[in-house]
Amino acid sequence: MASLPTPTVTAAGATTKTYSSSFTTTSPVISSWPLFSKKCALNKPLKHKISCNAGSSENSLNNLDRRNVLLGLGGLAGAVNLTSVPSVGAAPISAPDISKCGTNPLSGFRPGESTPTGGDCCPPDSPQIMDFKFPKNEAFRVRPAAHLLSPKYIAKFNEAIKRMKELPETDPRNFLQQAHIHCAYCNGAYTQSSSGFPDIEIQIHNSWLFFPFHRWYLYFYERILGSLIDDPTFALPFWNWDTPAGMTIPKYFNDPKNAVFDPKRNQGHLQGVVDLGYNGKDSDTTDIEKVKNNLAIMYRQMVTNATDPTAFFGGEYRAGIEPISGGGSVEQSPHTPVHRWVGDPRELNGENLGNFYSAGRDTLFYCHHSNVDRMWSLWKMQGGKHKDITDPDWLNTSFVFYDENKNLVRVYVKDCLYTNQLGYDYQRVDVPWLKSKPVPRAPRSGVARKSIGKVKQAKEVSFPVKLDKTVKVLVARPKKSRSKKEKEDQEELLIVQGITYDSEKYVKFDVYVNDEDDDASAPDQTEFAGSFAQLPHKHKGKTMSKTNFRAGLTELLEDLEADDDDNVLVTIVPRSGSEDITIDNIKIIYA
Ligand code: C2O
Repeated sequence: MASLPTPTVTAAGATTKTYSSSFTTTSPVISSWPLFSKKCALNKPLKHKISCNAGSSENSLNNLDRRNVLLGLGGLAGAVNLTSVPSVGAAPISAPDISKCGTNPLSGFRPGESTPTGGDCCPPDSPQIMDFKFPKNEAFRVRPAAHLLSPKYIAKFNEAIKRMKELPETDPRNFLQQAHIHCAYCNGAYTQSSSGFPDIEIQIHNSWLFFPFHRWYLYFYERILGSLIDDPTFALPFWNWDTPAGMTIPKYFNDPKNAVFDPKRNQGHLQGVVDLGYNGKDSDTTDIEKVKNNLAIMYRQMVTNATDPTAFFGGEYRAGIEPISGGGSVEQSPHTPVHRWVGDPRELNGENLGNFYSAGRDTLFYCHHSNVDRMWSLWKMQGGKHKDITDPDWLNTSFVFYDENKNLVRVYVKDCLYTNQLGYDYQRVDVPWLKSKPVPRAPRSGVARKSIGKVKQAKEVSFPVKLDKTVKVLVARPKKSRSKKEKEDQEELLIVQGITYDSEKYVKFDVYVNDEDDDASAPDQTEFAGSFAQLPHKHKGKTMSKTNFRAGLTELLEDLEADDDDNVLVTIVPRSGSEDITIDNIKIIYA
């Protein structure tokens, strides 16, 4: 790996602090750069080991531990209905041919529709494509927490966005053109034609492409902004919604005089605490409760439900298949609920952030995703199984983006695994959710309670089941009382299989385990196992989509003292857009 350039930027708000969590180092000021250096300054971890080499550039292909990947949802995909899929050899998805953008007969622009489909968000064509080169001899960029920006930094951020908005509409660096990138890769403008499958769309959500696509997208976005203000140190702020002080929309986003302002946001949410588990309508939880719930959601999605690469990144998605294997933990939540929480309910489709086609039109989108991207870095710092996927089809997936010089550049997933190679990292701030493990709602009072309530509550369910009301079902555990070693080798996973839902709606349901009371547990209680959430988007002329959901059970069942039980009571509570959801099956696997 090329040695790190000396960082020349000091993130605003950078002060030396002693933090309470195990991710903490010293200040974001650069003496501690990189966090991943030989002098790994991380404190002793809580329960999950954090390794110093999380950011090293050693090629993970050389350290193949394919088992994590192969035992993931790959096997499951076969169980879901894949009959419409042409014979699939292992092959990565190749960057789209942008000259064919919007010509997909299955998804082309349908005039008069309120939500545009892919055809009307195509980029200008380019006569040539360049290959990506790592930045060299450049200033290092430190992405700062958005709520800690100095007035000076806010001013330069605004100026950069203003200039981006002022570029001619046909310039690929123009603000709307940049927003269109997201729409094109999400709303069916591109097909897998470069991979030989012209009638299957490319979709960068709901699978293992989610993290790398958005990392590359932001990489170029940030460089364009920096070049427009002639500041090679400019770094995209991250909306730090995983820490209490960062849980509101930073004020400067709400000032109409600022270029980062967007009128299409939920007016009731401009000041309050974000709800990382947003159900599509406001609840009466107090801000204090929301903060507590948010931290617990973070712990669950980053720790309990992200025990291996498939759980964190999402299921596999190769050339020739539809992205149905399922999105990763963080993509489902908090990523999706935050979109919906900001989106404007006065708009027909929750524009801007509340719908995929329009999300990129809100500047907050990029700060939201900057924090999502930061989660990737934090997740890898946990070490152990918290590694990038090693499957060559993931590593060799490619995309194209316009860079700051208006060149179309082809990039590969394998080149975006380490932010320091890409010339940026994140300001070090507290990570309070590491210590926010949910607690059981009711401690188990001896054996008496065991299974009796569960069995009584469960209903006979015949699959596929419709989710128009709460579903309670007893799910058998193929193994119980596993040894420590067995648990380390394989996570016990709850799989909700073959979820068919209306992709034009905001869809969310919550999953609970062994919750024997009538009203469901709160997110900061152990019984709450996770949420399935999908942002609306139109694609391929059809509205129903199919996918899977998974949640980690090993730690959860230990905490509920239910590790010796034969079965678990699974409760699924529909929260939004659930009228037409059906579920093919619920089962427990080990992977
Ligand atoms: Cu591509 Cu947050 O979505």
